[in-house]
Amino acid sequence: MRIDVVSIFPGYFDALELSLLGKAKSRGLIDLRVHDLREAAHDKHRTVDDTPAGGGAGMVMKPEPWGEMLDGILADSASGSAGSESVPDGGAEPLIIFPSPAGDVFTQRMARELAEERHLVFGCGRYEGIDQRVFDEYAERGRVRLVSIGDYVLNGGEVATIAMIEAIGRLLPGVVGNPESLVEESHEEDGLLEYPSYTKPAEWRGREVPPVLLSGNHAAVERWRREQRIERTRRVRPELLPEELREA
Ligand code: ADE
Repeated sequence: MRIDVVSIFPGYFDALELSLLGKAKSRGLIDLRVHDLREAAHDKHRTVDDTPAGGGAGMVMKPEPWGEMLDGILADSASGSAGSESVPDGGAEPLIIFPSPAGDVFTQRMARELAEERHLVFGCGRYEGIDQRVFDEYAERGRVRLVSIGDYVLNGGEVATIAMIEAIGRLLPGVVGNPESLVEESHEEDGLLEYPSYTKPAEWRGREVPPVLLSGNHAAVERWRREQRIERTRRVRPELLPEELREA
């Protein structure tokens, strides 16, 4: 998959060099390209923002640098500079995602959908946001989504983009070593939260690993884990419980 990110703080994305995602990148499974929006601002101060039309507090990101940057990325994408051959070829046209608290809420389901794309472009806004005409322009020319990672406000789209790239990236074939570990996780399959995990020693500070996990009885372990998932989901996120598990 090819992923382009546009930001005035490209340094944020150094974090994606670490761990599984970094490995996926160096193995060519993810072709990540981070662009500094200021490279497309040509005045002496490389200005990317200006005062809001109509007045009010804060600053708004100017449309021209965004236009130049996104035009360049789209032209490059169209010229056939795709990502890895080994990932599914979703809509050939890139999908531009603008992280925004005003967008559709990002979920595991959305991560799975986005993992099917060939090319994602993340446009990270700062300040009070980006001039609306940028969204309108690219929505008319192609595919654009505003996506929120939750009901809270960040200072910009960078951290939200990192969260989305990690959630999407780990679903790409070959990124996570053991694909089974993707299946049992919270929000996958049946929508239940994960069961609690334990390792050795069998006792730590007087706290024991639940004996069933040391029983060697595979069926009993599976039963216990499922009960734990249901109990935890009922307690923490009752709205996620499937209909048949809800108490009347
Ligand atoms: N930018 C600021 N807050 C955000 C949020 N909650 N999700 C995505 N992008 C954002």
